[in-house]
Amino acid sequence: MIRRVLRMGDPHLLRVAQPVITFGTAELKSLIQDMMDTMAEENGVGLAAPQIDVDLRIVIFGFESSERYPTADAVPFTTLVNPELTPLSSEEEEGWEGCLSVPGLRGWVPRFQHLKYAGFDIDGNRIEREVEGFHARVVQHECDHLDGILYPMRVRDLRLFGFSEELGLAHLPDD
Ligand code: NI
Repeated sequence: MIRRVLRMGDPHLLRVAQPVITFGTAELKSLIQDMMDTMAEENGVGLAAPQIDVDLRIVIFGFESSERYPTADAVPFTTLVNPELTPLSSEEEEGWEGCLSVPGLRGWVPRFQHLKYAGFDIDGNRIEREVEGFHARVVQHECDHLDGILYPMRVRDLRLFGFSEELGLAHLPDD
């Protein structure tokens, strides 16, 4: 079921979300299906549960088509519950981001270039990956939502934050 995506300004986007305690339930499966349906409908590359007003530490992300991000490698479709991120170097990389909760806008955001992430899948199986570049960026963006952080809060130069059309970035999807 497609759910409504909360937009910036809604205080529920600013909460620190709660960890999932019980895995593999029908309720959790239904929630993740709703997140997938909503992300697909909105053409997003990621979605966090708080964006559909669910106060849990769950993110989904992934995309196949490289034509939307010609310079980015595909990111495997992943459901990540109770994620933990560990930067593997202090090196940062800046890039444009958008967000389904901040429609129509883009900002230039620094992210760790190289990191390790861990968490669980829907059934409680451990996931651990070491990633770089765009994959690392997407995970950081989505996991920020679990701590009540929206990407505009990370934009260092607000001259590089604006409407996609005015920035000449209208071809990029919101994510
Ligand atoms: Ni977002």
